[in-house]
Amino acid sequence: MSSERSKVAELLNEQVNKEFYSAYLYLDFANFYEDKGLKGFANWFNIQAQEERDHALLFIAYMHQNDMKVSLEAIDKPSAKLKELMDPLKESLKHEKYVTALIHNIYAAASEEKDFRCMQFLDWFIKEQAEEEDNSRSNIQKMELFGGDAKALYLLDQEMQARTYAAPSLTIG
Ligand code: FEO
Repeated sequence: MSSERSKVAELLNEQVNKEFYSAYLYLDFANFYEDKGLKGFANWFNIQAQEERDHALLFIAYMHQNDMKVSLEAIDKPSAKLKELMDPLKESLKHEKYVTALIHNIYAAASEEKDFRCMQFLDWFIKEQAEEEDNSRSNIQKMELFGGDAKALYLLDQEMQARTYAAPSLTIG
């Protein structure tokens, strides 16, 4: 990475990779649920993966708009060890908290550099992260309540199946 990059530009570039990694991680979770025969849960995480790809593309678009060079790096292999039906749900909450910390870190760097435009751009992600964590917590709670009962799990899977993709409310350019 060029040493001329600002810290904010460097962190934004890293975030592109983290968002693509998130998409990859959630595809891994979707595959896990497919293998378990829970197509609704798989659908939920496939859509989540699409959202993460959208996040990566938003960071890329913002960087282009602000004359920052984007350099795509290798995406790590998904690292979560999955055994129980609950595992991806707990892992996703853990991961979203990590992503929240990353976004906050970029915001802090932008604030330090008085990069007000970037701070305004990140506002959307700060709100989005609150939603993402809330969704993850809610999934864990539902699995705790209903996961032990086959009929209830069937209905829960149908509920997860009903999730549909919506393009992000943020647009760049
Ligand atoms: Fe891109 Fe789930 O945060």
